[in-house]
This record gives sequence, C-alpha cells and structure tokens, in this order.
Amino acid sequence: MYKTLLDIGFMMAAIAFIIGLRRLSAPATARIGNIVAGVGMLLAIAIAIVYPLGNGTSNNYIWIVVGIALGSVIGWIAAKKVQMTAMPEMVSIFNGLGGACAVILGLLEMIKTSADNKAAIGISIFTLLVGAVSFTGSILAYLKLAGKVQDKHVILPGHSYINIVFLIASIGLGIFYVLHPSMPLLIVFSILSLVYGISFVAPIGGADMPVVISLLNSLTGISAATAGFIYGNQIMIVGGILVGASGTILTVLMCNAMNRSLINVIIGGFGSAGSSSASNDEGKIAKEISSYDAAVMMNYSGSVMIVPGYGLAVAQAQKICKEIDDLLSENGVEVNYAIHPVAGRMPGHMNVLLAEADVPYSKLKDLDEANAMLPSTDVVIIVGANDVVNPSALDDPGSPVYGMPVLNVWKAKNVIVLKRSMSPGYAGIQNPLFFYENNRMYFGDAKDSLSKLVTEVKALN
Ligand code: TAP
Repeated sequence: MYKTLLDIGFMMAAIAFIIGLRRLSAPATARIGNIVAGVGMLLAIAIAIVYPLGNGTSNNYIWIVVGIALGSVIGWIAAKKVQMTAMPEMVSIFNGLGGACAVILGLLEMIKTSADNKAAIGISIFTLLVGAVSFTGSILAYLKLAGKVQDKHVILPGHSYINIVFLIASIGLGIFYVLHPSMPLLIVFSILSLVYGISFVAPIGGADMPVVISLLNSLTGISAATAGFIYGNQIMIVGGILVGASGTILTVLMCNAMNRSLINVIIGGFGSAGSSSASNDEGKIAKEISSYDAAVMMNYSGSVMIVPGYGLAVAQAQKICKEIDDLLSENGVEVNYAIHPVAGRMPGHMNVLLAEADVPYSKLKDLDEANAMLPSTDVVIIVGANDVVNPSALDDPGSPVYGMPVLNVWKAKNVIVLKRSMSPGYAGIQNPLFFYENNRMYFGDAKDSLSKLVTEVKALN
C-alpha cells in the first residue's frame, strides 16, 4: 500500500513534468509551465527520499539533508545572482554537474555490482560514458561561453578523426569491461570518457555553440534515464527521457537553423573551418547616421522591421524598444520583429525579452517569415545583433558562419545598425553588412540610442 501510494505520487510528478514541458513551448504559458514542472520535481524528490522506508530500510538522512541544503543554497544564490545574459553559462555548468552525478552513480554501481550481472554492468558503463562526456564537455562549454578560455576553437590536425577514434575506443573498451571487469580497466575507461568530452567540445566555438549546448543537455538527460534503470526508479527514467528527447529535438532544430548536419555535431569538429575574410572590408568606411535622420527615416516609412540580438539583452533595451514600436505604430507604420533562432545566447532569448516588454506575439516573425518580408520592408533597425545578420554566411565559403541561415536584412530599402562600436559579435568575425551602401551605423548603448530615437520621433509628431 505504502509503495503503491508513492508510485502514484511518482506518476503525478511525471505528469507535472509533461504538462510543464508542454506549457514551456509558448511564451504566454512558459512561466506557469516552469512552476508546474518545479512542483513535480519537488514531489519527485520528496518521494525518492521516503521511498526506501517501504522496504524496511532507511536512507542515510543526515547526508541527504546536508546535500539538499548545500545544493539548495548554491542553486538559490546562483539563480538570484545570474544576469539574464549569463544564463547559458549557468545552464552549462548545472548541466555539467548532472553529468558528474551520472559518472559517480555509474562508478559506484560498477564497483558494487557482481561481475556476472552483465546487464547491470552494461547499463552502468553506458551511464558513465554519457555522463563523463556531458560533464567535461559542459564544463569546457561553460569556460568558452564565460570567456574564460582565450582560444574558442582548439583544433588539432584531423580533429574529427581523433573524435571518431575516441568514440570507437570508448565503446570498445566499455564492451570489453562488461565481459572482463577490472579496476584498472575501469580507471582507463573513465579517463578516456572524460578526455573525449573535452576533445568533443574543444574545436567548436563561435556561432555553433548553441548546437553543442543543447546536445550536451540531451546527453545529461540520457545519462539520468539510464541511471534510473540502474535503480529501477521510474521518475528518473521518465525525467531523463523527457530531458534527453526534448534536448535532441532542440539539437535537431538548432542544426536546421544553423544548416549543420547532426552527424557532424556528433563526430565533433564542425563549424571550425576557415577564418573570417575581414580583409574584404579593408579600406571601406561604415557610414553613420544622426538620431534625427534615423527618426525621420523610421517615422515617414511604411514598414519597420526590428532585428533584436544579444546587444538588446546586454542593454536591457526591450522596454524602450516597445516604446518606439508603439510610437511608430500610432503613426501608421507597420512594425514587426525578425527573430533569428540563435539570436542572443540561449534558445528563445529574444522571445523571452520581448514578452517581458509585452510585445504582441503576432509581431514576432521567424526567420523564414521575416526573410520573405524583408525585400518589401522600408527600414530595418538592428538592435545589438551581428552574427545573425552577417551576409558572409551566404557568400563567403571561408567564413566560420558560412552555411548558417541569416536574416537577409540588406534586401530591405534601408538598414540602421545600433551598436556601440565596430566590434564583432560572438563568432568573432567582421560583418560586411556594416559597409553596404544601404546601411548606416548608429553608435551607442542600445538603450541610450533607442531613448534618443524615441525623443526625436516624439518631436516629429
Ligand atoms: P552577436 O553576434 O553576439 O552580436 C551582438 C552585438 O551586440 C555585438 O556585436 C555588440 O557590438 C553588440 N552589443 C553588445 N552590447 C551592446 C549594447 N549594450 N548596446 C548595443 N549593442 C551592444 O549577437 P547575435 O547577432 O544575437 O548572434 C548570437 C550569436 O551568439 C551567434 O553567433 C550564436 O550562434 C551565438 N550563440 C547563441 C546562443 C543561442 S542558443 N542563442 C548560444 C550561444 C552562442 P558592440 O560591442 O560594438 O556594441
């Protein structure tokens, strides 16, 4: 009876995860989705703690309470302190901790399990492999995102082949271990898996980081699910599968958005070719525009497309962006927003920011919709975006962003770029758009620049 009740509780937690995940798929319901999933997690943790009491055994509650207290304090402080723009770093490091847990569980179970129980050893070794790749890969991804490693692409000669060798060697050694378990082999296998995680992420940098982050997320989910099989814990299996599956779907969507193949991601070393052809722009001058001219251009146009990017998040300019949208819309200008799937630093970053400023969802145009609208758009205002509007992605095979679908903003009649300097974006490459004939630069912090434009537009009416 006791266990049946707890199993029902686990089922309710699983249902809460699924409802939460479903609600997270739209900005309007995301907040409540997060709460529902959080309540599900609380229920799952509470049940997992009391579950062994039904077997007449007891958990080591002192260790559990200390662990939960420590984890809660660290998690609470980290979540309170983290800037919105540093969210991907936090996700990466937390994801890495999930991988580390899977490594520890896998190791402990392998040491405990009888050598004859091949199925259990096989599951444990798989958990260890996936967890280890996710652990070291996520830590390196964190260091890259946080700018703590100077060189974002570390590419050894034949790096893709090195990664294939690592993968095959890890799987081969894992199978050998299942057949002939021994402590030295376990140590070698663990080290190999940890090094593979580093080698996997090392060559990836610049614009391709979002794909690898979502792939690492799904790996942690898979390792949690297999750890659930080790313990016969249904909620770990369901939760892990949900994370693994949603992470995989997101990875595929990201791959499509970046025009990369999934197999290249798995082998690693993609997105690392070539260097920027900044020399193309040598001697060219980017033309500037005054706030008055920019305001006139927008105010007397038929349509304006706002392209938000990472700089909008840094400047926290979403509310003032909505203000200029309102002013122009009142004057009969059609205002829309072009949302690139990897603009900013995390999936849905721009949607979240604009939802915070109450921009109607109907005004947000995805990549394809926006690209269809751009040739008939009068004015494009780029607010702190760079890589996602880089034409080199289409016409420079030597560029690291080559092949990534971008917003074809240069097809509009006029383009105004709001940023602070000529500095590159995340991919670290120059943007030839800034030197195009129909492009004008308006330098300054995005929030200050938009405030000045609001004042000018108000003065015109
Ligand atoms: P970026 O290419 O990173 O460019 C952002 C631009 O914003 C910079 O050139 C910067 O120029 C400007 N900026 C920064 N602070 C500003 C401020 N306060 N006011 C005005 N401008 C400011 O951004 P993007 O176009 O959004 O592209 C995103 C990039 O990040 C892509 O390469 C993508 O692959 C990568 N990435 C995305 C994700 C996800 S999932 N979205 C995750 C990891 C990496 P100044 O310094 O001159 O102002």
